[in-house]
Amino acid sequence: MSDDLDADVFAQLADLGVRFVAMRCAGFNNVDLEAAAQLEIPVVRVPEYSPYAVAEHAVALMLSLARNTHRAFNRVREGNFALDGLLGFDLHSKTVGIVGTGNIGSVVARILSGFGCHVIAHDPSPDAGLAANSVDYVALDDLAAAAKIITLHCPLTPDTYHLIDGERIARMQPGVMIINTSRGAVLDTRAVIAGLKTGCIGSLGLDVYEEEGDLFFRDLSAHVIQDDIFARLLTFPNVLITGHQGFFTHEALTNIAETTIANLSAFEAGRPQNEVSTEKLATTAEPARAVP
Ligand code: NAI
Repeated sequence: MSDDLDADVFAQLADLGVRFVAMRCAGFNNVDLEAAAQLEIPVVRVPEYSPYAVAEHAVALMLSLARNTHRAFNRVREGNFALDGLLGFDLHSKTVGIVGTGNIGSVVARILSGFGCHVIAHDPSPDAGLAANSVDYVALDDLAAAAKIITLHCPLTPDTYHLIDGERIARMQPGVMIINTSRGAVLDTRAVIAGLKTGCIGSLGLDVYEEEGDLFFRDLSAHVIQDDIFARLLTFPNVLITGHQGFFTHEALTNIAETTIANLSAFEAGRPQNEVSTEKLATTAEPARAVP
């Protein structure tokens, strides 16, 4: 899941007689597609496996932060049933801003509409179905100014790198909740920490982190975390972080397995499907890892 498929790896695979690479993820930013093309090794992926998995995880982070469930869990286990500091707020009637209403963001919009939220969104390609169902598309700065909760579901591209930076945070409502289950670098983590310290940001839910490649998907519980920015994030009572587990449901893993087997069968039958190409690579700036 977090391997690099660079030119050297492709050269070694070719030497071993490998003629096809089937990835079990959607992202292909870690693949040197030009090297693959030169060696005539098709690369396929699983473009979509369960938007519900990630969308529901984003809403889970939202609900936990709105009601301080993450703090209540520890408190009750210690026999502390005091409610001080656990005061929450209703999601009902709150304005939620969704940045990116593709597969995942559109599911989030539907879930939150069911909660009675006022859903606004920003996306260069608005979803006509959502727009017809009382989701208001607005400019990003208007979304930033209006939303009590902002949830990020856009890809990481040159345009979305640090989309949420200090300047944009300054436009947000005091005490805004920010949720990021998309890609870490859509948020400027240093700016977010500054916003948390001043109280501009009221709470933060993350499933992704800019430098997650050095941390996530392994057990570091007996090690000292060397990333001081991540370590600072862990100190805030109003920050809830999960280690890129949004995709991690039975349903999503089943879809990944079935699509991968179908990709292999299609290759064997001489009609590859879900192939990734160098043209697609030009549209993404996602760094380093092939995470889901
Ligand atoms: P998608 O491609 O279906 O939708 C992305 C949407 O973002 C599109 O509608 C696109 O028009 C929009 N968009 C592009 N640039 C934008 C901008 N500057 N501002 C606002 N919107 C913009 O992608 P999908 O499947 O919904 O995934 C969304 C994100 O979730 C991706 O970054 C993906 O990597 C991440 N993801 C995270 C997972 C996790 O486990 N946490 C698992 C799977 C995906």
